[in-house]
Amino acid sequence: MVGAVRGQRGRKVARRPAGTLPAVSRFYLTTPIYYVNDAPHIGTAYTTVNADALARWHRLLGDQVFFLTGTDEHGAKIAEAAAAHDMAPQDWTDQTVKRFEESWALLEISNDDFIRTTEPRHHKAVQHFLQAIYDAGYIYPGTYSGLYCVSCEDYYTEEQLVDGRCPIHGRPVVEMEEQNYFFKLSAFEQRLLDWYGANPECVRPLTKRNEALGFIRGGLRDISITRTSFRWGVPVPWDDAHVFYVWYDALINYLTAVGYSEDDRRVAEWWPAAHHLIGKDILKFHCVWWPAMCMAAGVDPAPSVFVHGFLLVGGEKLSKTLLGRSGTDGERPVRLTEIAPAALVDDFGVDAVRYHLLRDVPLGSDGDFSYEGIVARYNADLANNLGNLAQRVATVVGSKCGGVGPAPGPAEGNRLAEAASVALEAASGAWERVAPHEALEATWRLIGAANAELEAAEPWKADPGPEVDRVLGNALEVLRIVSLLAWPAVPSGVTEIWRRLGLSGGPGDCRLPADAAWGGYPGGLRVEKGSPLFPRHRP
Ligand code: MSP
Repeated sequence: MVGAVRGQRGRKVARRPAGTLPAVSRFYLTTPIYYVNDAPHIGTAYTTVNADALARWHRLLGDQVFFLTGTDEHGAKIAEAAAAHDMAPQDWTDQTVKRFEESWALLEISNDDFIRTTEPRHHKAVQHFLQAIYDAGYIYPGTYSGLYCVSCEDYYTEEQLVDGRCPIHGRPVVEMEEQNYFFKLSAFEQRLLDWYGANPECVRPLTKRNEALGFIRGGLRDISITRTSFRWGVPVPWDDAHVFYVWYDALINYLTAVGYSEDDRRVAEWWPAAHHLIGKDILKFHCVWWPAMCMAAGVDPAPSVFVHGFLLVGGEKLSKTLLGRSGTDGERPVRLTEIAPAALVDDFGVDAVRYHLLRDVPLGSDGDFSYEGIVARYNADLANNLGNLAQRVATVVGSKCGGVGPAPGPAEGNRLAEAASVALEAASGAWERVAPHEALEATWRLIGAANAELEAAEPWKADPGPEVDRVLGNALEVLRIVSLLAWPAVPSGVTEIWRRLGLSGGPGDCRLPADAAWGGYPGGLRVEKGSPLFPRHRP
C-alpha cells in the first residue's frame, strides 16, 4: 500500500514521507498447471494451498502479487481420457476444468488468474516463443524412436525402466517412432551450468539444485518437441502436420499469463519476479528444459524455483490404499489420487484441511497424509490452542468487562509483547525460506504463551479492575496479531476472530510488519463470544 497505511480501526501506522513512492516490490508466483485427465486430488491441493499461503503472506507484506494457477489441457494423456469417456477433448477439458475451479474455490485459493492451455492467448504465446527458438536455429527436423510413457508424457531409456515398466506409474511403456522436430538441448549444457553458477539460490532446497546440476552434468540429449500421431496440441507454426509436445507448450504458460507476445511491458514488469512452486516429479522440466528454452528464445530464465516433496499415504506415493472416509462409501480403501479436496473440506472444514497441509508436511520433504493427521492437528492447534484462547477471552471479557474489550498494556516489560515480536520475526524468516510449517509453529508458540499467561493470572476468578483489564487486553492483542500471522494459512477462521474482536476490515487488509506492532488493539470495542469457532472433531 502506498502512502498512508491504515491498520485496523482507531490506529494509523507508519506513514511514508510525502513524495517518496516506494519501488514496487512484485511477487509473481505460479503452481504447476495440472493435467485435466482426471479431477483434482489432495496431492495437487497440497501444492496449490502452499502457493496460496505464500501469495497471501506476500500480500500482507505489501508486495504486488500475481498468483497464477491453471490447467494443462493438451497431449496424448488428455486425448486418451476424453476418448475413454466418448467425448471430444475440448468438451472433456471444459468439463474437468470446472472441478479444479470449484475445488480451489472451496479451499479459498486466491489466484489472480487461471490459465488454460487451450486458450487462444496461450496458443499465440507458444507459437511466438517456439518460432523465436526456431528462427534462432535451435530446432531441427529428425526421427525419434524410443520408449514412451503416456502418463508421464515422457520418454525413457531401457535402464530407467523398472521391470520393463514406467518407473513412476508402473504402466507399460510403448515403442514410438516419429518424424518430428528436435530442440537442441545439448547446446545449452555449459550455459545452464554457468547460469546455476551465477544464481546459486535459483533452485531451492539446495539438494534439488544439486539434482538439477546432476542432470546437466550427466549430459543433455536433444529433445523431440513435436508430434504427428495426434492433433490435440498447439499447431507448429512452420509445419502444419505437427503439434507441439505437451511439455513444450505447458511450460510456456508462465510467460503467457504475464502477456508474452502481447504486452512486452507487462512481461518486463513481472517476469524478473517469477517464482515457480513445483513438486519434485517435474524438476527436470523446470530446472533443465525450461531455463534452456528461455535462453534459446532470448528470455531470461525464471530466477526462482522451489521444489517440494510428495504427500504420501502409508509411505507410498499415490498408490497405497487406506481406509477412506471422505468421498468414499464408508470404509472402502482409496488411493491418494482419489481423495477429493472438496470431500475433505466437506468433512473437516477448510481451515482444518489447509492447516494440516501447511503444518504437517514441511515443504521440501515428503510427508504423510492421513485423516487421523488432519483431525489430530485440528484438535490440538485449532480447537484447543487457538479456539480455546479466543473463546475463553471472549467469555471473560463478557463476564468481567461487560463485553467491551480493554486495551493491551504497554510493550515495555511485557512478556507477551516480547513473544509477539519474536513470533513475527520467526514467521517472517520462515516464509522467506518458504517454510510455512515453521512460520505456523512460531505463531502457535505465541498462542501457547498467551494461554499460559491466562492460566497463571486466572482473570475469571479475579474481581474486575485494572489488573483483569491488562491481562485480557494483552490476550486480545495476541489474538489480533495471531490473526494476522495465521491469515495466510487459515483465512476464514482468523477473519472470524478479527470480526469477533470488534475490528473492522479483515487481517488481509493489514500490512506487515507495521500492523503487527504491539499496541494495535485499541480497546473499547465490543467483543462477541459466538459459538465455538473450531469445534472439536471426533478422533
Ligand atoms: N501438467 C504437468 C505440469 C506442467 S507445469 C508447466 C503435471 N501435471 S500434474 O497434474 O501431474 O501435477 C503435477 C504436480 O501436482 C506435482 O508437481 C505436484 O506439484 C502436484 N502433486 C501431484 N501429486 C502429488 C503428491 N502426492 N504430493 C505432492 N504434490 C503432488 O505434471
